[in-house]
Amino acid sequence: MTPPLKSSGSVQPVISVDDVVHSFKGRRALDHVTFQVMPQTLHGFVGPNGAGKTTSLKVICTLLRPQFGVVKVFGHDVVDEQKLVRRKIGFMPDHFSTYRQMTVYEYLDFFAAAYGLSFGQRTRVIDEVLALTDMDGRKNDLISGLSRGMQQRTSLARVLVNDPDLLLLDEPASGLDPRARIELMEILKALRSMGKTIFISSHILSELAELCDAVTIIDRGKVKYTGTMSGLLLTSEEHPAFRLTVAGDDATATDWSEPLRGLTGVLKVDPVEARPEYRIEFDETQLDTNRLLQAIIGLNIPIAAFAEDRRHLNEAFMDLTERGVK
Ligand SMILES: Nc1ncnc2c1ncn2[C@@H]1O[C@H](COP(=O)(O)OP(=O)(O)OP(=O)(O)O)[C@@H](O)[C@H]1O
Ligand SMILES: [Mg+2]
Repeated sequence: MTPPLKSSGSVQPVISVDDVVHSFKGRRALDHVTFQVMPQTLHGFVGPNGAGKTTSLKVICTLLRPQFGVVKVFGHDVVDEQKLVRRKIGFMPDHFSTYRQMTVYEYLDFFAAAYGLSFGQRTRVIDEVLALTDMDGRKNDLISGLSRGMQQRTSLARVLVNDPDLLLLDEPASGLDPRARIELMEILKALRSMGKTIFISSHILSELAELCDAVTIIDRGKVKYTGTMSGLLLTSEEHPAFRLTVAGDDATATDWSEPLRGLTGVLKVDPVEARPEYRIEFDETQLDTNRLLQAIIGLNIPIAAFAEDRRHLNEAFMDLTERGVK
């Protein structure tokens, strides 16, 4: 995970949202929202239904004028310097709009032409974005015949035609099956490594946990947390935990709970369902993942699997957001 994202001295944020308020018919959708997104990071924007994610994204991408507060993208004001902002961003909305009777190629060509690219440039750029999104073989397919996963990739390819430095993606993974989700995340990682900054919304924190350098959590129009993923875990009252699965034919016969409890820094050991699986909670001030694993190996336990327990992350999210659908 890439550490520190604090706005420090010379590093200018790519997105700076400062004290933004926005209401619809007198109802506050954004209530003094403040956060920053730093360059070349993948920054998650997580919150339950109605939290204000889409409204924030629309303000950042200049589709909605903030009623109060200031939003800057690459230092340009989204109201006063709208054109400059638009040139540098790519916004992927949460639904695929019309154009269903076009082929993938026609769709991308239409948007590339709208950005003023010549015929020659368009041919080259479309080939590039289709390769990036792994859609090479689909360019003559009708959009109406594409699966949800392929439509999302087409939408992402469209966002890339003007080679934006900042991608604003509104729930790109929603409705995708697990494989399509993983593939999408791989594409996003590749785009980050090309130097792009990616701001991505989701309902699900754990979906973004491995991918994101930083996260902003919003609920009922208020920012509940903004910072690194590891910093978020420290806000939770729960301790981090791992799941250990023991290998071997007699794995169920041996109870490893006691030796595991005896390790320094281990707070709690619960056999999960029936052994051979254990949930191990530890004090993060005394141990880290590496040292915990070393200590378990030191007990000569035959390890079949060792993985982070995500309950911890979900608890942090639930602690920060109020329960119930809005
Ligand atoms: N055009 C609109 N007219 C009236 N109210 C709106 C409009 N757009 C959003 N809202 C309200 O603003 C609040 C925030 O909505 P928003 O769409 O930003 O949430 P969200 O976090 O994107 O939710 P979801 O996860 O369901 O997409 C909600 O209460 C919503 O009903
Ligand atoms: Mg939304």
